[in-house]
Amino acid sequence: MSAVLDTVPVGAASAATVSRTFAAEAAPTIAVVLLGTGVVGGALLKLFNTPAAASLRLVGAANSRRQQTDPTNLASRSLREQLNHQGDARDNAGLLAALDASGAAIRVIVDATASAPLASRHAEWLARGYHVVTANKALAGGELPGWRALQAALASGGRYGDSATVGAGLPVLSTLRRLRTCGDSLLTLEGVFSGSLSWLFNQYDGSRPFSVLLREARQLGYTEPDPRSDLSGEDVARKLLIIARNAGFSLGTDEVDVQGLVPEPLRALDAESFLARLEELDAPLAKLHAEAKSRGCVLRFLARLNQRGRARVGLVEVPLTHPAARLYGTDNQFALTTTRYNTQPLVIQGPGAGPEVTAQALLGDVLALG
Ligand SMILES: NC(=O)c1ccc[n+]([C@@H]2O[C@H](COP(=O)([O-])OP(=O)(O)OC[C@H]3O[C@@H](n4cnc5c(N)ncnc54)[C@H](OP(=O)(O)O)[C@@H]3O)[C@@H](O)[C@H]2O)c1
Repeated sequence: MSAVLDTVPVGAASAATVSRTFAAEAAPTIAVVLLGTGVVGGALLKLFNTPAAASLRLVGAANSRRQQTDPTNLASRSLREQLNHQGDARDNAGLLAALDASGAAIRVIVDATASAPLASRHAEWLARGYHVVTANKALAGGELPGWRALQAALASGGRYGDSATVGAGLPVLSTLRRLRTCGDSLLTLEGVFSGSLSWLFNQYDGSRPFSVLLREARQLGYTEPDPRSDLSGEDVARKLLIIARNAGFSLGTDEVDVQGLVPEPLRALDAESFLARLEELDAPLAKLHAEAKSRGCVLRFLARLNQRGRARVGLVEVPLTHPAARLYGTDNQFALTTTRYNTQPLVIQGPGAGPEVTAQALLGDVLALG
């Protein structure tokens, strides 16, 4: 790698050669380790190969089983596939050592997994001087002591890029923080925080059974392979916790009332058995839909936080004039009523899922560290 520097005396090289050589050899400004090379991590690897990421150097990448720190392998366009059969055994210490060895002023760990054990390390990494950029909600949207540990670690100067944890990078958390910096405060919050549940209820007009739509959503990749992850409302609850906590409401996980859509008898089944019994969702939802329609309303899976800090997640009827009644596709919507936006809420709406926009949110948070 350093052949040019070793064999060409700097004084003998042309100015252009020197500057190219130094550009290739100098310590990068920002060194990055990527944890998770799945749907989102894979999209981020593609973005790393674009000019937008020219100031970054990838010095490590890992899936749950293997990792890679060799520069040639990291530069390979098939890195993601390679990691399935080639690389070192997983060891976070080896990845941190690669960040340290880079000599970069800014050392960043990007977490594109859903792993709770990995998220539980975020605070420690921040305290050790690394920055963390994450799509993983398990720490900020998990148990309250984890959130508090994160806040304590941030006091040591590390930065936490969390744009991808809510709305797949829609400018929700950044807007909220900006308002708070200006002395504004969140009074209430309401919205649709799940792309899959948005799509399902935007489509559900009673003409087709809910189970048919759910199978279609699953085929389109809008739901997790086991759709109970979406239908349980737990992911929405985590996003609500992240926003509420960033707004100053220190809520615990047990303070969110989550009314999921999975009937009790279907909760403990293995995924295959659950998928074989989706029709059991149809009658209860058809009844709720008919009742809502008779009152001129539609069903929406809403997350809500009221002024007293009461947080609820579940299916509700909304009138056709409600902002959530006018959503399209997998749109997310976040309606923020604040001290200053108090006659009409500030509404942030747009695609709230998808690998490209989520990866872009991660890249944006990394670049913002520079
Ligand atoms: N997909 C979206 O549109 C979207 C939108 C917003 C946020 N997110 C969030 O982004 C995160 C990733 O989502 P995804 O859709 O990309 O999931 P995914 O396709 O299932 O990928 C997860 C990746 O994490 C890896 N992983 C798991 N544990 C690990 C560990 N201990 N160390 C290193 N890698 C580990 C997995 O490795 P293996 O391949 O070895 O299993 C896999 O590469 C999740 O937190 C999700 O909630 C996703």
